[in-house]
Amino acid sequence: MTYDVNRLRARVPALADGSAYFDGPGGTQTPDLVATAIAGALTAPLSNRGRLNLAERRADDFTTSARLAGADLLNADPRGVVFGRSMTELCFMLARTLGRGWGPGDEGVGTRRDQDANVRPWVRAAQAAGATVRWVPFDPESGELTPADVAGVLSASTKVVAITGASNLIGTRPDLVAIGELVHESGALFVVDGVHLTAHAGIDIQTIGADVYLCSPYKFLGPHLGMLAASPGLLETLHPDKLRPATEQVPERFELGTLPYELLGGVTAAIDMLADLVPGQEQELPRRDRLVRSMHALQEYEDQLHTHLRSGLQAIPGIRLYSNAPLRTPTELFSLANLPSDQVSVRLAEVGINAPAGSFYAIEAAEWLGLGAPGAVRVGLAPYSSAGDVDRLLDAVQTMATS
Ligand SMILES: Cc1ncc(COP(=O)(O)O)c(C=O)c1O
Repeated sequence: MTYDVNRLRARVPALADGSAYFDGPGGTQTPDLVATAIAGALTAPLSNRGRLNLAERRADDFTTSARLAGADLLNADPRGVVFGRSMTELCFMLARTLGRGWGPGDEGVGTRRDQDANVRPWVRAAQAAGATVRWVPFDPESGELTPADVAGVLSASTKVVAITGASNLIGTRPDLVAIGELVHESGALFVVDGVHLTAHAGIDIQTIGADVYLCSPYKFLGPHLGMLAASPGLLETLHPDKLRPATEQVPERFELGTLPYELLGGVTAAIDMLADLVPGQEQELPRRDRLVRSMHALQEYEDQLHTHLRSGLQAIPGIRLYSNAPLRTPTELFSLANLPSDQVSVRLAEVGINAPAGSFYAIEAAEWLGLGAPGAVRVGLAPYSSAGDVDRLLDAVQTMATS
């Protein structure tokens, strides 16, 4: 099963500007089919959800289709797929809602490695309830966060454990299956931030054992939205703030106001594109099966390109790489001895290479690594990244490091 990167590149109009985009962990460039789906939603009848007329039916169908697509992507139940403005917003809502049931003596567990969107909502909810936050540390040398690290902070009082599927700063992937088992043995809820991971791996939330899984379509070729998946049974037990006339139904109960139907059309188109990343797959295969195969092929492609990127970076004099864990996404964080990271990014931008420097909201992790808010330069591969992009980056960084 081979992955043809040029087939996807031809469908991403932004690439025509000649830039090499290593800022995929911040958000991917958008394929034409996704943009067309969004425009198409808006340029035909569209109103609020209902079945009365075409405009209502289209709004309804965009919503239903996006839930089915999200469910296929994550192996979730479509009745438990919730959309919101961003993962951050959804996570705050979830934490606030769960936190109402906590009190003094209860504990929430977060990590030093997570993006703040999976940290602050839990800290705030614990503070509001008078509960305690326990922190899972990680090894700053390897970037690893092990099941044993998590086991060290679990107790009978743990209510929720919030962990990232992959660090958006250094790419490290913890052993989610093993951690999920530990969390469930302790009787706590297992919440996984899959925003960075979902772009790079086939996801099966049943295998992971995630009670709640959060991700953001704009990290995997889709539009700017957040998505949450949980079992409908769990969602039924939760009661977020809502307007009086708004439905009590799940998952709608969690979706404040009117959904962006056009963006939901874009979500479905993006997931369809992911399912079709490997050409020649029998179209009659269920989308979930095509997604599993495509994401597997993508992961193999990205792993190979990552090896090239990593070995090229390692050979550059004066470079420091911050992630050394064996299981990682193709995302590297580095600094140079002779040039501040923000200057490295500026110079890369001058030659059409997008690779910003910063801590990317993973502020706890950046502090833990001793970098602080200025962070370092992040380069991440995306489904449209090519060997040519990587060579350009390596040449440019090499020149900077040696001049
Ligand atoms: C790992 C991770 N978690 C959470 C978020 C927040 O996602 P959103 O922008 O949808 O709120 C990001 C965004 O960069 C991220 O990389």
